[in-house]
Amino acid sequence: MLKIGNIELENRFILAPMAGITNLPFRLIIRRLGAGLVYSEMVSAMGLYLDQKKTMEYLISDPAERPFAVQIFGADPSIMAIAAQVVEKSGADIVDINMGCPVKKVTKTGSGAALLKSLDRAKKIITAVRAACEAPLTVKIRSGWTSDSIIACDAARMIEECRANAVIIHARTASQGYSGYADWDIITRVKESVKIPVIGNGDINKPQDGLKMMEQTGCDGVMIGRAASRNPWIFRQAAELEKGNPIYVPGIPERRALIMDQYKSLTTCIGDRKAMLCMRGLMLKYTKGLPGSSRFREAFTQIKDLDSLISVMDRYFSALEERMV
Ligand SMILES: Cc1cc2nc3c(=O)[nH]c(=O)nc-3n(C[C@H](O)[C@H](O)[C@H](O)COP(=O)(O)O)c2cc1C
Repeated sequence: MLKIGNIELENRFILAPMAGITNLPFRLIIRRLGAGLVYSEMVSAMGLYLDQKKTMEYLISDPAERPFAVQIFGADPSIMAIAAQVVEKSGADIVDINMGCPVKKVTKTGSGAALLKSLDRAKKIITAVRAACEAPLTVKIRSGWTSDSIIACDAARMIEECRANAVIIHARTASQGYSGYADWDIITRVKESVKIPVIGNGDINKPQDGLKMMEQTGCDGVMIGRAASRNPWIFRQAAELEKGNPIYVPGIPERRALIMDQYKSLTTCIGDRKAMLCMRGLMLKYTKGLPGSSRFREAFTQIKDLDSLISVMDRYFSALEERMV
């Protein structure tokens, strides 16, 4: 079983941090549907340090989602240390440091993937965070900044030396963004370089891929991102598959109930307008490949208010259910 510090996970399938997606309602659903651990969206260490209301809201959690990890990003060791203390005090089980975000707004401040170009600074940050909090600490990296500077193994060794409890490796370079493929060989090499748990990430598109990544690379657990927003059942499916059980396939009524659930808790959590925008994006993913979905998807992209969103959603699912009887 996978253990991160003193936290023992129910299984080895973990929800990746995704800005704009892994908010509280989504994490609750994913935990209920079987992920071993869930990560928050990345949270600005500076925002936590300054006690900014909007940033602090990212820390709102629910006992039902635990164990729960909060990811922070920043470039200043002392601010990162204070932010980690704020996260720990908020009740999060695990603190994570973002060393992989390639977005310019983040890297231009020296945070995220920019730290791959400056392992000395990264070391100062991890050391400061480690000294500041007792919660288990994970660090999420990419393979390197570019394909000419693959430094994942050096970074992983440094992370281990700094007494972090696990390293998460998204096996793409920062300059790749999300293009091309993840190079799982790098995960194998990282696993060979350290003794702390290694969590592999990148291109797990179906439950079988999760098992394949662990078998092929020897990694201790896997982190799933984009596939979870298309198929929130993927964690349970992978865990079942690992036990040798057949894959569970949710029926239309269950999909409908999940969507309505998520929608209701999103409106409570982030307000009607944001919930509508978030659901619009998610619905396009959830319905991909379902019968008649392309016409529905077209209608969905036009939706501008809550009432129409609910009625289009209801119409589509009623039609789907009728087709099934
Ligand atoms: C919309 C979106 C937002 C993301 N936000 C974050 C983030 O906040 N922190 C982070 O470390 N990675 C972030 N990622 C990267 C994912 O955690 C993950 O490493 C990446 O998607 C590769 O995994 P996958 O192939 O399973 O999707 C994000 C990815 C996406 C698609």
